[in-house]
Amino acid sequence: MATADKEVEATGLTGWIDRRFPMTSTWKKHVSEYYAPKNFNFWYFFGSLALLVLVNQIVTGIFLTMNYKPDATLAFASVEYIMREVPWGWLIRYMHSTGASMFFVVVYLHMFRGLMYGSYRKPRELVWIFGCAIFLCLMAEAFFGYLLPWGQMSFWGAQVIVNLFSAIPFIGPDLSLWIRGDYVVSDVTLNRFFAFHVIAIPLVLIGLVVAHLVALHEVGSNNPDGIEIKAKKGPDGIPLDGIPFHPYYSVHDFMGVCVFLLIFAAIIFFAPEMGGYFLEANNFVPANPLQTPPEIAPVWYFTAFYAMLRATTDPFKIVLMIVIALLGVLALVKGRGKWRLGLPVLAALVLIFMALTESKFWGVVVMGTAVVSLFFLPWLDRSPVKSIRYRPLFHKVFYAIFIFAFLMLGFLGTRPPSPAATLIAQICALIYFAFFLGMPFWTPRGRFKTPPERVHYKPH
Ligand code: HEM
Repeated sequence: MATADKEVEATGLTGWIDRRFPMTSTWKKHVSEYYAPKNFNFWYFFGSLALLVLVNQIVTGIFLTMNYKPDATLAFASVEYIMREVPWGWLIRYMHSTGASMFFVVVYLHMFRGLMYGSYRKPRELVWIFGCAIFLCLMAEAFFGYLLPWGQMSFWGAQVIVNLFSAIPFIGPDLSLWIRGDYVVSDVTLNRFFAFHVIAIPLVLIGLVVAHLVALHEVGSNNPDGIEIKAKKGPDGIPLDGIPFHPYYSVHDFMGVCVFLLIFAAIIFFAPEMGGYFLEANNFVPANPLQTPPEIAPVWYFTAFYAMLRATTDPFKIVLMIVIALLGVLALVKGRGKWRLGLPVLAALVLIFMALTESKFWGVVVMGTAVVSLFFLPWLDRSPVKSIRYRPLFHKVFYAIFIFAFLMLGFLGTRPPSPAATLIAQICALIYFAFFLGMPFWTPRGRFKTPPERVHYKPH
């Protein structure tokens, strides 16, 4: 056999380690011989950036914990102590608070990329599902973390969200009492939220990120053309359109990291509060259980879901009931097999339950369903091509309307409620759900362009 075909065994320290631990083979499998499509574009920066922000949050979080006190009488002052007395404490704190918002910026863009290029489709369903679970964990992590500075917004935000659970029929009041550990948000609540924020959720999050990447490397990355590069391999078994992640994408991602760090530093040094969007003015006031702030609004990354919650008024509940009734009739008329009777019966049961329960509870259901719908995307989308590039124009229009509705909800969630704002939020919430529910019907329709045999790639 020619020597080139042989695996050259490492010598020295590397060889010593390799004989005891799969170091070189892991590096090759996941980095230097992981063949990624050569046509990655701008949208492919956000996965590695999400990893960077995750590391930033963990490292700055560890340093914050060294001076933070999870005690209702000390928490607020300990954060002020970090900001004013601890050497570089202000920087660590701003890196952590800015990192929280940037995490969501990066993850939302990362998810949008997946949506555009159909990265959730077969065989990447599990990559997507792990991603959705990461998103849920991130939301929990941000929610628990927000109570820790023990400011007015921390306290009242937690109070409002935990109270939502009390709207669940039968078990609600006991459940919210169990979550708080007290009749109101208190020191007990702060202690358990601290435990969740610093250890429980981060452990799950790290585990999910590892699973996300292992699943991705098992099936290989998608790309802006949405075609499988593994389908066209050279005689050496390497995809013709694949290039090794290292050095090509490690250098590429490093450039993304530099640009990201410039923006990140600019925010930290010049606008850490970001006009009240990253750090709210009311949270610089210590928590006062006897004084409700005039306006309780969550941080920007939750506002789209919060707007859906607020939009679920009594009249909107009736609109939802009409929609469910119509879907039940549609299933009866058009359904096939077991769905034909099963779905209308389910719709009838839901309608009875809805009639008996208050709209506040349905607001919570709407908010939860908005996140959970994401998990089902791989099975809802039935288009013959993955990437938006080869889909009919009307698909692109639907995607644009969906994104616009989501952004609008996000904006409305930051504003005080008004009748007009509530109506717009209701329309946007309907658009959000119509996008997902309608997918099995509209995604296979229209004239699709034929995707190319090989990926599109223009060297710069
Ligand atoms: C802590 C959060 C996350 C981290 C660190 C992370 C990390 C990564 C990395 C490094 C990649 C490969 C590079 C790339 O394609 O950009 C990737 C791919 C991917 N991620 Fe994530 N991710 C996170 C959250 C999410 C979420 C919330 C979703 C969706 C709900 C998601 C869905 C995907 C998909 C579908 C791919 C494959 C994309 C493709 O091949 O086109 N990820 N992720």
